[in-house]
Amino acid sequence: MADKNRVVLVTGATSGIGLATAEKLKTVGYHPVLTGRNPDKVKACAEKLGISGYTLDVSNEEDCARVIKSVENDIGPIWGLVNNAGIWLEGSFEKYKVADIRAVMETNTLGTMFMTHSVLPGMLGRKSGAIINVVSTGALYCRKSISVYSGSKWAIRGFTGCMEVECAPKGVRVMGFYPGKVDTNMYSTAGIDRDLEVAMTPAGAAGMIERMFSDEHILWGQVSGRSINDYA
Ligand SMILES: NC(=O)c1ccc[n+]([C@@H]2O[C@H](COP(=O)([O-])OP(=O)(O)OC[C@H]3O[C@@H](n4cnc5c(N)ncnc54)[C@H](OP(=O)(O)O)[C@@H]3O)[C@@H](O)[C@H]2O)c1
Repeated sequence: MADKNRVVLVTGATSGIGLATAEKLKTVGYHPVLTGRNPDKVKACAEKLGISGYTLDVSNEEDCARVIKSVENDIGPIWGLVNNAGIWLEGSFEKYKVADIRAVMETNTLGTMFMTHSVLPGMLGRKSGAIINVVSTGALYCRKSISVYSGSKWAIRGFTGCMEVECAPKGVRVMGFYPGKVDTNMYSTAGIDRDLEVAMTPAGAAGMIERMFSDEHILWGQVSGRSINDYA
């Protein structure tokens, strides 16, 4: 079992991978904190899992700082962060609405950076912590119709790799999780009908995230697990 004092904040945890991750982390003994942008969903999901929930829109930097501060005051230092909140956008680039381009970049890319920016000083001060960014195979290759989603995730791939190198010598693991298709609402929310018959389950993805947290001497990077001693 994990140390129950290890508080792990999960963003976008009212659905899909985030919700399954909060549930898995609770099952193995962490102290997960569920967050999401819709207060009603946060309340319902947090009550169902029997854990704390906070309303948090990751695209708002003040919200990120406020919620991290509240969680640390109410519950205790945040040991782990799962930057999971994300939205899908698909189609020809010239047909996208500017507001949709902005929303994807602000949620998938800036949201991950804002959350990391707010939580990191505490982790570095304690020389302990782990951050998992839910990236995507969309950040490993290029294909038509996903230009902005892919761009938002390629940015996070670069960010994650640089932060891995920057933070590992200071005792904080920053890792990227790169799933392919997962059977969640992400596509249907974006109005896309996707065949998810061969997709990973949210529980399967959550199990991999939990393994990345628990395997403390490994940095799960974009290519392979790397020993934390590589940075010693
Ligand atoms: N599903 C896949 O095939 C797949 C593959 C690779 C990577 N991913 C990544 O996995 C992550 C989770 O996606 P999912 O598949 O689990 O999708 P999902 O079921 O749609 O869940 C996404 C979650 O993010 C929340 N969210 C959206 N915008 C937010 C914001 N600005 N602030 C806070 N929360 C926000 C959603 O809240 P609401 O319910 O209120 O909208 C929802 O709880 C995303 O980063 C996605 O890019 C997914």
